[in-house]
Amino acid sequence: MSAKIFRRHFIFQRMAAAMGMLIPWAGVKKTQAEEHLSNPSPALNETLQTIQRLRTIHGNFNEREISDSQLQRILQSTVRATNSSNMQTYSIIVVKDRRKMQELCGYQGSCLLLYCVDYNRLNASAKSLGYSYCPDNIVNFITGGINTALAVQTAAIAARSLGIDYLITNGIHRGDMEMIWNILELPKEQCFPLIAVVLGYPSEEPAYRMGRLEGAGVIHYEKYRPASKEQLAEITAQYDDPTKHLGLNEVWKEKGYKHYLDWLFKDWARNAKPTKQETPMLKLLKRSGFVELQTS
Ligand SMILES: Cc1cc2nc3c(=O)[nH]c(=O)nc-3n(C[C@H](O)[C@H](O)[C@H](O)COP(=O)(O)O)c2cc1C
Repeated sequence: MSAKIFRRHFIFQRMAAAMGMLIPWAGVKKTQAEEHLSNPSPALNETLQTIQRLRTIHGNFNEREISDSQLQRILQSTVRATNSSNMQTYSIIVVKDRRKMQELCGYQGSCLLLYCVDYNRLNASAKSLGYSYCPDNIVNFITGGINTALAVQTAAIAARSLGIDYLITNGIHRGDMEMIWNILELPKEQCFPLIAVVLGYPSEEPAYRMGRLEGAGVIHYEKYRPASKEQLAEITAQYDDPTKHLGLNEVWKEKGYKHYLDWLFKDWARNAKPTKQETPMLKLLKRSGFVELQTS
């Protein structure tokens, strides 16, 4: 650096420092303490607080209704979620009839938002302009699913920020799924009900907030690192620790299991075995046209 440039740089830095700005000094490595001072952990602002306050109401919603203006705010927010090519490849069906909600997903609250991966609107737009648009493969379903899930989580955050509670549920996939198409008159092709959100107020506050695994095995830096034996033992212990609230319930203790995960894999998730035959969901996915039928 020439003396002139050096002086200019120095003067600029001093001015910036006087104005309270922190400009990294080129070529000079900061100590860890300095790094921390210039990069303190961000304060829990309102958005972060809302995210930390997210929690599920597992169906015990009371009779209180959310207002139409609150619902509109949630709908305005849900569609703000990021989405592939801004094509919004989903449809949201708003259901206020509690009996219908119960039939559709097994739960009821003030309002149900049923999210479908849906390409019908785009297909119709293409057709109206004389184009043929054919999103009939698994890639489009996955992209549509991602768009839909992001919209769902955004609705949950918006609801919680307004003091409204939610249940995200795949109850729509239990039992006779065909019924969903029939009740809501969904298009048989290029439309698939993915997930539902029940909105409302709880009849009882949850006793605690569910915990989360955060470290090794969940978050990997720079490359994937399979959990080690020690880490797996630590994870098992975390699930067993009643203060962490990682488990769905305490039934495993009453049933005499050694660990929560014993109960989870043996009782709760016992159906997660290799499938021997086509599931009803795969049949419906094929009918929707999202599963590639030609393999060669
Ligand atoms: C795809 C999906 C399906 C879910 N289905 C149900 C459900 O049918 N019933 C229920 O009570 N909770 C359901 N949940 C909520 C989870 O059980 C809940 O998010 C999890 O236990 C963590 O609790 P928290 O959201 O309170 O932190 C579902 C969540 C997701 C993402």
